[in-house]
Amino acid sequence: MSEHELRVSKIRNGTVIDHVSGGQALNVLAILGIDGEAGESVSLGINVPSDRLGKKDIVKVEDRELSQSEVDVLSLIAPEATINIVRDYEVADKLRVERPDFVTGVLSCPNRNCITQANEPVVSKFDVVDDGVRCTYCSTIVREDIADHLDVD
Ligand code: CTP
Ligand code: ZN
Repeated sequence: MSEHELRVSKIRNGTVIDHVSGGQALNVLAILGIDGEAGESVSLGINVPSDRLGKKDIVKVEDRELSQSEVDVLSLIAPEATINIVRDYEVADKLRVERPDFVTGVLSCPNRNCITQANEPVVSKFDVVDDGVRCTYCSTIVREDIADHLDVD
């Protein structure tokens, strides 16, 4: 997209999460725990045209860098995402997300009989498998709408 077509303004400092699967931007915000109440500046593009993906979402969060565990969970809903760290208007670092082997403490198991749902001091853990994520404790597999199982505040 050429400069004059830029839809969302550039940011001075922060993180641009680009090439997010179309329609997933609000789930990205949920993963990052952003609801606007802390006064963060966030710009979103949802279903904007992309050469590579056809349609993509883009999330620009000012004055915030992401933790590795946030990036790990992002990879589950936005496997093509590019994380751009912006400093003083320049892209200082660009990384592709990578699917982790497992995620802990971020997804809740949909199986009501799972030990992780029983008020025991057990932190959820899901192994990342080809067709989704699998609860380490009860083997329940979550294939679709992984973001619906986010266990974030
Ligand atoms: N960006 C931004 N603010 C800046 C610098 C970059 O919002 N100060 C955004 C750009 O709009 C783009 C993303 O960060 O969406 C990556 O920027 P850049 O690497 O310059 O763009 P491309 O080369 O098109 O990136 P890619 O090759 O990853 O598609
Ligand atoms: Zn389980």
